[in-house]
Amino acid sequence: MKTRITELFGIEHPIIQGGMHWVGFAEMAAAVSNAGGLGLITGLTQRTPELLAKEIARCREMTKKPFGVNLTFLPAVTPPDYPGYIKAIIEGGVKIVETAGNNPQKYLPALKEHGVKVIHKCTSVRHSLKAESIGCDAVSVDGFECGGHPGEDDVPNFILLPRAAEELKIPFVASGGMADGRSLVAALALGAEGMNMGTRFMATKEAPIHQNVKDALVKASELDTRLIMRSLRNTERVLENAAVDRILEKEKTLGKELKFEDIIKEVGGVYPKIMKDGDMDAGAFSCGMVAGLIHDVPTVGELISRIMGEADAIIESRLARMIGMRH
Ligand SMILES: Cc1cc2nc3c(=O)[nH]c(=O)nc-3n(C[C@H](O)[C@H](O)[C@H](O)COP(=O)(O)O)c2cc1C
Repeated sequence: MKTRITELFGIEHPIIQGGMHWVGFAEMAAAVSNAGGLGLITGLTQRTPELLAKEIARCREMTKKPFGVNLTFLPAVTPPDYPGYIKAIIEGGVKIVETAGNNPQKYLPALKEHGVKVIHKCTSVRHSLKAESIGCDAVSVDGFECGGHPGEDDVPNFILLPRAAEELKIPFVASGGMADGRSLVAALALGAEGMNMGTRFMATKEAPIHQNVKDALVKASELDTRLIMRSLRNTERVLENAAVDRILEKEKTLGKELKFEDIIKEVGGVYPKIMKDGDMDAGAFSCGMVAGLIHDVPTVGELISRIMGEADAIIESRLARMIGMRH
């Protein structure tokens, strides 16, 4: 399939694996890129720019295809060494960066100067337009159903994507709730040039995370995610578990008085315990409503070729028959 996104990034299929904390290691990114999609290493999972440089080198040994790095700009008291991470990306010869969180404007000149293409993840049309105006090459439009941080506008993709299509000139991919060939065809119909998946890629053989997490995703339904940290205006969609229940209870009791410190035990530094050790109640972790559409744990290659096969069948057979092109 050829779209503006496959052309922009030099990939075979218009499928991107979004940055995922403690999931987006070299193994994950390489598996997606080797299968013809675009894999992304999650920059901040590597504690220092030096470790990111090593992870990039490791990924390069696992794939000859294009891959990228996600760099998330978080609200933090002591911000990570972003200039250092940018340097590691540039010196590592990475040509694609997915930015997320805050406005990446400050770092664009350095990236552009080295021919790095930037796709910024946005949860609203206004932020997407801002990304376009500052020179981003593409955007990843993340709807309300997404795993992770959906923003505070609560606009689902059935509205958000066509709205983005009405306003944007740069290409965009649909993110949030994407799982299969149906998602891809729908995303294309709504104006996107491809799709970005997070949660779905966690339930693959190559995802370098504990089997307990993969099993939990297969077991979960579309009703099993919760929104936490709303009152902190840092909303996150997570899989329901004992820690999440505790957070919600505190949010209910403390209301607007809730401070980050009140829930630090449930959200701070919990990812390794979940993703590496498989302790499913250790804390809150991002998960999309799309869990309801995850029924198996295929290899990344099987998943991507299944998606592309389904998309072809929907377009060439189901839709073509409906408009009388086929009998
Ligand atoms: C476990 C997990 C961790 C994530 N970590 C990050 C992150 O560090 N930075 C980021 O920009 N997005 C992060 N995301 C969001 C994904 O990149 C992607 O936008 C989102 O998962 C899309 O929605 P979906 O899960 O419905 O596919 C994370 C998502 C998940 C499920």
